[in-house]
Order: sequence, then structure tokens, then C-alpha cells
Amino acid sequence: MRQATMKGIETLVRESGAYVSRRVFSDADIYKNELENVFGRTWQFVAHDTQLPKSGDFLTTFMGEDPVLVIRQEDGSIRAFLNACSHRGPLLCMAEEGNAKSFSCPYHGWVFGADGTLLNVPREGGDGYHHQLDKGQWGLQSIRVESYKGLYFANFDPAAPSLRDYLGDFAWYLDAIFDPLPAGVEFLGGTMRQRLKCNWKIAAENIVADTYHVLAAHAVAVGVCMGDRGMQIGIEVGEKTDVDALGISATIDGHGWNANFDGQGIFGLFKDPAPWLAYVNRQRQRYIEHLGERRAWFVGSSIDGGVFPNFLFVPGFTFRQIHPKGPNECEIAMWTVVERDLPPDLKREMVRFNARMLGTSGMFETDDCANMERIAMTVNATQGSRRDSHYAMGLGRERERSDLPGLIDQRVSDTCFRGYYRRWAEFMQAESWREIPLAPRKLT
Ligand code: FES
Ligand code: FE
Repeated sequence: MRQATMKGIETLVRESGAYVSRRVFSDADIYKNELENVFGRTWQFVAHDTQLPKSGDFLTTFMGEDPVLVIRQEDGSIRAFLNACSHRGPLLCMAEEGNAKSFSCPYHGWVFGADGTLLNVPREGGDGYHHQLDKGQWGLQSIRVESYKGLYFANFDPAAPSLRDYLGDFAWYLDAIFDPLPAGVEFLGGTMRQRLKCNWKIAAENIVADTYHVLAAHAVAVGVCMGDRGMQIGIEVGEKTDVDALGISATIDGHGWNANFDGQGIFGLFKDPAPWLAYVNRQRQRYIEHLGERRAWFVGSSIDGGVFPNFLFVPGFTFRQIHPKGPNECEIAMWTVVERDLPPDLKREMVRFNARMLGTSGMFETDDCANMERIAMTVNATQGSRRDSHYAMGLGRERERSDLPGLIDQRVSDTCFRGYYRRWAEFMQAESWREIPLAPRKLT
């Protein structure tokens, strides 16, 4: 049964998301509600096409706190199941990834096929179940799966709109990374994971919305990577006024996109960006032909963003997902993502670069994680939990534009935070998907 929807949500998320009660980062009842009301009905990333190339390839992940098993089927489709034995419920598959024709439960030995059917039951006959067990009723619980440009998302709620409608015009931005070239993108080098002692939203909001922190939190790391050149790019973000030079923050249905790298992309962070920029420049004409001039700019200029609620990215570089593990704990799973036709030596370099920067002990990651756990320390304390967090930068300055989707602010602002928490509040108080609005699609 669904948890009760949150009453009094307007006291938790106030003034269009500009002020958010710190209880939402610590309160156990709110957390329980969001497992149902957010994770029980949003589309959540479960796999990329390139992670499961062959029939029988599988990986394990989470939707909310529910373990999930994702398997490439014989017909090439991808299906997802609760990773729980349907007999008494223990975790069925403990491996992170692999290839298998069937999955055997470690407890009593029930065996499930890759399509979720219950294949074999020890003592099914006269010395146990007396042939009275209807195996057709006891397969794995299947979860709805849909895909967009090689990204597979799953949803527990049969009443949810299609994935394409859920993404809406946000797909216009996603295409700049997932459809830039015919070759597509590739998830490389396995999954890096780490646990953090903070609420999952503290980790998620940092990448969906927070470009403001970069110069302060990462001052040393940016300096090490780029010296004066790095600080200069950061300063320009605040100074320029032209959108194509400055960039945007865009929010649509809680999804967020921030672009202001001025065409250099993450490659600007390399000590020697020359080989990367040479590659990008070689591709540039193809980007323009494929996506048009305006979207091609986003390929090299996007900093970070995310699909609500927990699928996040730094384009050209890394994707990650934040899994909730209690009101005050989360797990971050992260992957290196590159264009598939990137030369092999640059692919290897990108995996190493990602690990050094945003890997579990990366220079940038440790800065962020330290701040996230410092937030958790105060929002879990008695007095600290009673205050609001401040997301009011640029309040009232965001605008709709005819040429770009979403609500846009051209400066560094909290626009994407506000959109994110407004969306969170909509999910928390809605009885069903019928009460959850979708922004009308304007661009194709
Ligand atoms: Fe899985 Fe019994 S709990 S076979
Ligand atoms: Fe950061």
C-alpha cells in the first residue's frame, strides 16, 4: 500500500523552492514517504545499452532501496526484475554483473530463467510440493522498462506516463550527449561505488543544480588542474551576458541542465587539453550537421545536470546515480561515459582522468563529499534541522525562451535547485500520476 502523501508540503518547500526545510534531509517519515512517492513512481535509470551487449548479460542495481536485476533477453530486449527470490524473498543475484542463463536462489534452490520464469523447484513432486505448486504464478516480479537513445529506465508504477513523456523537452538537451554522433556513447570501465553519510538529495542536488560551488569547494583542485586558466573560466561564467558565451541553467519537470564551459567542455580541465580539443574540433562539423548549430554548442559547453530524481551527469565524462540507503546514507554509483568512436588511447586516458577527478578518491569528489557530510552533520542535529536551506539565488529572474526548452536563467543561479524541489514536492503530495503535471513539449 502506498505511504500517505505528505500533508503540509508547503511548509517544507516554500516560495517556489527558494527555501527548503532541512527536515527533508533528515526526517525518517519523510524518507519513508519518498521511497513510495518518488522512487515508487518516477522513471529511474537502470542500464545503458553498452553495459549489456550480449544475451544473458546482466547487472544488479537499485530503485529506491529495492534491489533490481537487469537482463539482456534472447530477443535483444532488456528486462528488469526485483532481485528477490519469489519464494521467501532473499536477494537472488549477489553478483554486480555477469552473464547467466538462469539464477539459482542460495536458500532453497529455486531456479529462475533470464526471462524471470520459475524454471525449477527442488522437491516439486511427491516428496515435497506434490505437484501442487503453480510455477507460472511464482516467477520474478517484472518491472516496467522503456528506453531512450540507449538509456534504459524502469518504473514500478503502471500508471506512469511513457519515459518519452517523462523526459519531455529535456530530451532536447540529453540528445547533445546521447545522440551527438551516429556511433553513440559507451559506458566504460565498470562501476565505481562509494557510500556517503548523507541524505541522497544532498548528493543529487550538487550535480543537478550546483555550479555555484565550483570555485570555492574546488579551488585547490581547479588550481592544480588548470592554474590561472581554470580560475579565469570560472570568473567568466559570472561576467558574460551573452547566452552562447555564458551558458544557461535550465529546469524542466525537475530535470536540470547547466551549461557554461564556453565550448571547451570538461577537456578544459586537462593539463594538456590539446589532443581532446583537436578531437572535439574534428567532430564539430558532424555535431552541427547532426544536431544543428545551437545544440552543437551544448556538446562542448555543458557542465552538469540530471534526470529527476537521481540520474546525474557531467557530459563527455561521467554519469552517476544516487541510491538512497536510509534518511542519512546513500550510495553513489558512477561510470565513465565517452563517445564510442573516441580513439582508444583517449578512452583509456578518460577512464584514468575520471577516476582521478570524480572517482571515489578523486580530487573533486573528496571536496564534494566532505561538504555533503558536513551538511548531514548539522541537518541531523536538533537546532540545525529546524532551519531552511537557501536556494533563492536568481529567484524570479528565470524566463521561458522560444529557442530553448525549460525555464532558463543565463547566470549562475539556483534555478535548477528550485525546479528540483518543486518537482519533489509535487511527487510527495500527489495521490497518483493523474495529479502530477508534465510540461508541454515545445521543441522537437
Ligand atoms: Fe529462495 Fe527459498 S528463499 S528458494
Ligand atoms: Fe563539485
